[in-house]
Formats: sequence, C-alpha cells, structure tokens
Amino acid sequence: MDDIAGKVVLVTGAARGIGLGLAQAFAAAGAHLALTDIDGVALEEAARSLPLGTLTFGLDVRSPADWSRVVAGIEEVHGGIDILCNNAGVGMGRSAASGPTGFADIPLEHWQLLLDVNLTGVFLGVRSVVPGMIARGRGGHVVNTASMAGFLAPAGLAGYSASKFGVVALSESLAAELLPVGIGVSILCPGGVRSDFVERSAERSALAAGRPFTPPVQPMKMQARNVGERVVQAVRANELHVFTHPEYEPLVRERVDAVMAAFGPSAEPGYSDTPAMLAGSGNAAYRR
Ligand SMILES: NC(=O)c1ccc[n+]([C@@H]2O[C@H](COP(=O)([O-])OP(=O)(O)OC[C@H]3O[C@@H](n4cnc5c(N)ncnc54)[C@H](O)[C@@H]3O)[C@@H](O)[C@H]2O)c1
Repeated sequence: MDDIAGKVVLVTGAARGIGLGLAQAFAAAGAHLALTDIDGVALEEAARSLPLGTLTFGLDVRSPADWSRVVAGIEEVHGGIDILCNNAGVGMGRSAASGPTGFADIPLEHWQLLLDVNLTGVFLGVRSVVPGMIARGRGGHVVNTASMAGFLAPAGLAGYSASKFGVVALSESLAAELLPVGIGVSILCPGGVRSDFVERSAERSALAAGRPFTPPVQPMKMQARNVGERVVQAVRANELHVFTHPEYEPLVRERVDAVMAAFGPSAEPGYSDTPAMLAGSGNAAYRR
C-alpha cells in the first residue's frame, strides 16, 4: 500500500502501549483513525492527544456483537476500513514454576483468556472486516500483533506462546489467501516494548493465584511509537514478518536449525506424499 494518507485504520487495544503507538504513527502518516479498546475510559483519554476526527469505540475483541456494531459505525462515517490492526492482547506473566510443571499448572481460566483474546480476537477481527475490504475491491492491509513468542517457546510461557504461534500461523495462511485480491498481511513480532503489558500480566497471575501483587521492576524497553513507525513502513512495503528486535535472530535461528536437523529418512522408505499434496502445503506468501 503506497499511500497511507486518507486511509481508514482500525486499531484494537489502542488505549495504551503498542496500540497507541500504532495510532500515533498512522495519524502522522495521514490516516483516519478508528480506535477501539475494552477500556473505554483510557481510550477516550488517549484519543485526546490524537487528531480531531479520531473515532473511538468500546470493543471487546472476543465479542462478535461488538465487532458488528463497531464495523457498522466506521462504515457509516468513512464507508469502510482499509487497514485492520488486530493488536489487543493479554499475557499471564511467566508461570510461577517455569520448571517441570509450569504448563501443567496453568489455570483453565488463564488458558481460555489467552486463547480467547489473543487468538479468537484476531479471528473475529478478520472475519468482521476482511469480507468488506474484498467487496470494495480497493485492496487493504491486515496487521496482526504476535510477538517474538510467536517464534520462540521458552519455559514458563507455554500458554502465551501457543496463542502467539497461532497468530503467526493464521496470518501466514491468510496472507496466501489474500494475495490474489491485493490485500496484504503483516505479522508484528516485537520483543520488549514499553507498556503496561508485563505489569498487567503479572498482576493477573498473582490475583488468580491469590498471591500479593508486587509490580515487577521494568527494564528499559523499546518505545511503542517506534514500533508503530516500523509497522507503517511494513504496510507500505507489504512485509509479511515484521521484526523490531534483531537481537532475537540467533534464538530463532537456533530453533529453525533444530527443526531442520530433525529431518531424516522416511518412516516408510520408498513412500512419498504426492506432488499435489506437497504443492498444497506450500505458501506463495513466503516467495513473494
Ligand atoms: N509490550 C511488550 O513487550 C509486547 C511484546 C510482544 C508482543 N506484545 C503484544 O502487543 C500487543 C499489545 O500489547 P501492549 O504491550 O501494548 O499491552 P498493554 O497491556 O499496554 O495494552 C493492551 C491493550 O489491549 C486492551 N485489551 C485487553 N483485552 C482486551 C479485549 N478483550 N478486547 C479489547 N481490548 C483489550 C487493554 O485494555 C490495553 O489497552 C499484545 O497483543 C501483546 O501480546 C507486547
């Protein structure tokens, strides 16, 4: 998408953190903003520092009814949505025991919340907005916020990583599906970004476990506005994977190398899946 000026951008989880950084960067590029968050009060506060005409909507990404209402509201004002940023997400902090029982000890409500917000929220966003983009025939772009945890699964982060690997997978598949209709997909994979995320995740975990909550000491982290600027660049260039923290490259390489090294001889020598099955497993978005 060469020109962002005048385009309509919907951002979820826009009241703070990365979502607000995305909003600021898209506003600077001349886009019309439609900002949403489950926290309507914080969203109104955030919108005060953004251009006049910024639309705001309370939206829980888990609610199909909320999505219908918000998309209709934006269509009424602007006719449609050109760029969808599925950004809202939650964490749970590292499992208290990032040892042998970390994953097995995740409370069911935590697991469900992670998947509902981080994964189903993205599904509902795509389902609510992309058909309209296709119908208008003017192209468009989808930005899904995953994480480095969409490529790395360290001990203690199983639930969060499972949700973010899911975001990466559905986004790559979606990118291949939307190639022929001129709609791009970008997967934002940040490392540490300055926001309330870690604190809110740790608090959620502590409350659920009945432990007292002490805010963790936060190291310096990347500013959300810079992440937003990088995303605007990626939308312009139609980049699939958007890595903001190159210091994680050796860790991803270690994982990919381990996967590649695990390929060996067939379990049934002489047998091979058909060329059609293999072709159907490839993804044109990787080769673009
Ligand atoms: N901050 C980081 O270091 C970091 C790193 C990698 C990925 N991420 C991802 O970036 C995204 C944004 O995180 P952040 O760091 O800005 O966190 P944040 O907690 O500062 O902001 C998240 C926003 O999402 C909103 N939200 C939560 N649940 C929602 C729901 N059900 N419906 C709608 N809105 C909801 C919150 O109210 C909040 O305003 C998340 O998807 C997160 O997983 C963050």
